[in-house]
Amino acid sequence: MRHLLSVDDLDAATAHGLLDEAERFEQALLGREVRKLPTLRGRTVMTLFYENSTRTRVSFEVAGKWMSADVINVSASSSSAGKGESLRDTAKTLRAAGADALIVRHPASGAAHQIARWTSEDGDGPAVINAGDGTHEHPTQALLDALTLRQRLGSLEGRRIAIVGDILHSRVARSNAHLLATLGAQVVLVAPPTLLPVGVSGWPVEVSHHLDATLPGVDAVMVLRVQAERMNGGFFPSAREYSIRYGLSERRLALLDDDAIVLHPGPMLRGMEIGFSVADSPRATVLQQVSNGVHMRMAVLFRLLVGTDEEGVS
Ligand code: CP
Repeated sequence: MRHLLSVDDLDAATAHGLLDEAERFEQALLGREVRKLPTLRGRTVMTLFYENSTRTRVSFEVAGKWMSADVINVSASSSSAGKGESLRDTAKTLRAAGADALIVRHPASGAAHQIARWTSEDGDGPAVINAGDGTHEHPTQALLDALTLRQRLGSLEGRRIAIVGDILHSRVARSNAHLLATLGAQVVLVAPPTLLPVGVSGWPVEVSHHLDATLPGVDAVMVLRVQAERMNGGFFPSAREYSIRYGLSERRLALLDDDAIVLHPGPMLRGMEIGFSVADSPRATVLQQVSNGVHMRMAVLFRLLVGTDEEGVS
């Protein structure tokens, strides 16, 4: 695997291998006073973010540092992108400055793919990791969600997972729907018709518009943030109607089977798509997802920069 741009880059064996590697990193660091492995000493990892982020950017930085890489963070607002430098020139500049891995978040779908092409024009470039491109994909989020589901549910095979909310604008939904299907889960998308993408009939999922009817019998429900920033000021149904019909309230939590769990990729809009107390309930895995994000991203960096033949945790 040269880059991680899409969950299409992952077959079931590769994905399970990455989940196993993430758990090995977690175990290796457990209880250590100094959380530092020599795995990526001498390697340079750069993050290039054109959109805001807390979880993804921080967890990649922590992952790199825990593996002794040199980590450089570049944000569009404080870089020469703010002076008008193109994405291509920025990416090629970071390659020339010594990036071994380039972790990219950008509002345009396909930006990470394009950067992988540009930075390989003159021979081998850095490993490019898609940290979220527009409404397209967020593959490391899907991997950390799969890790969380596997830890909480055991196997993903045959599990029924509901993904609820603003599917239209969600790269998390697209990556999760496809990766979960690859791993043998049944995915049901629950959303108003206005928040479903046109091509959803080609996804390996069921579709429902009725949350109350869907919740009984699912093993997990993944609640998505409503991405108002991608709606150009319009939002239908209204925020109030959305919250009433699709918000995971305390009442709806009681419709779930006793051992069903609640995921949210964050950031959460409490009181909108998820109830305040639901987000803090023992069924919610939100902070476990964040912790898993660090170990998952260690596994991805290890796989791309070192390969599969060596032990990442030695
Ligand atoms: N889940 C996620 O991508 O969160 P951030 O936008 O904070 O990185």
